[in-house]
Amino acid sequence: MKTVFINCSPKKRFCASAYFLFLQRLFVSGQKVSEKLRTPGDHARILEQLRDAQAVVFCLPLYVDGLPSHVLRFLEEMELFCRKNNLKLSVYCVANNGFIEGRQNEPLMQIFEHFCTRAGLSWGGGVGIGGGVMLNVTRILFIVDIALLVLNTVLSAVNTGSFFPRDAWISFGRNALLLLYFNLGVLFYLARMGGHIRKGTFSGKKYTRILIPSFVFILFADIFFVIISIFEGGIFRGWLSRKEYTGE
Ligand SMILES: Cc1cc2nc3c(=O)[nH]c(=O)nc-3n(C[C@H](O)[C@H](O)[C@H](O)COP(=O)(O)O)c2cc1C
Repeated sequence: MKTVFINCSPKKRFCASAYFLFLQRLFVSGQKVSEKLRTPGDHARILEQLRDAQAVVFCLPLYVDGLPSHVLRFLEEMELFCRKNNLKLSVYCVANNGFIEGRQNEPLMQIFEHFCTRAGLSWGGGVGIGGGVMLNVTRILFIVDIALLVLNTVLSAVNTGSFFPRDAWISFGRNALLLLYFNLGVLFYLARMGGHIRKGTFSGKKYTRILIPSFVFILFADIFFVIISIFEGGIFRGWLSRKEYTGE
């Protein structure tokens, strides 16, 4: 059985969709192909991969309560391609959004459902994930934790001859468990959907989020976006700066 995973984030690096694609792949067996959809130049290559596939998994961000426009363009072409070649694929989706409620992906799921009806494909269901940006940060924190553990082990080996710095391992274990906890909802629903992808059955629409209280999320999200705004064009991305009238 062949499953095609499509990362539909327009970002070149560090996108949350790549993280969720990686996790979803872990729970699917058989032949797995990963593709990246960013420009119309990717269409033909991806459509060829779909020709002999049994399932396709779209991993994508929520944009303005819907699909990013480049994904819509692709779906238009895919609809014609599937009808012309009489393809019978099962379509699944892993959508993530910036706000904390995963349920905000409901309109996006409905778009996929209607697309499947028009294209004559089987809608397999999806997982909508809230707090996608923050969950993506947890994987970066995990890598930083590993790097710190390695550094502490080297320092301990050089200074004391011991390759097992106990405190560093305890701190690593504690952090890893906390990061795992934040991701538990996502892991549960992706594992569940993985079982359905393997069998080609309907998994339903499930919504989850980063497992932290909303007030903590809002606090960290505000700090995060103020910092990002400063680095990417001034406070609030220049909303407060004086605008030049261009006459257009
Ligand atoms: C143009 C644009 C529109 C967005 N619209 C929404 C939205 O309606 N609701 C929401 O919760 N997040 C929204 N977001 C946030 C993205 O869904 C979020 O950053 C997501 O994690 C990006 O995934 P990626 O890293 O895989 O591209 C929007 C982001 C952009 C750039």
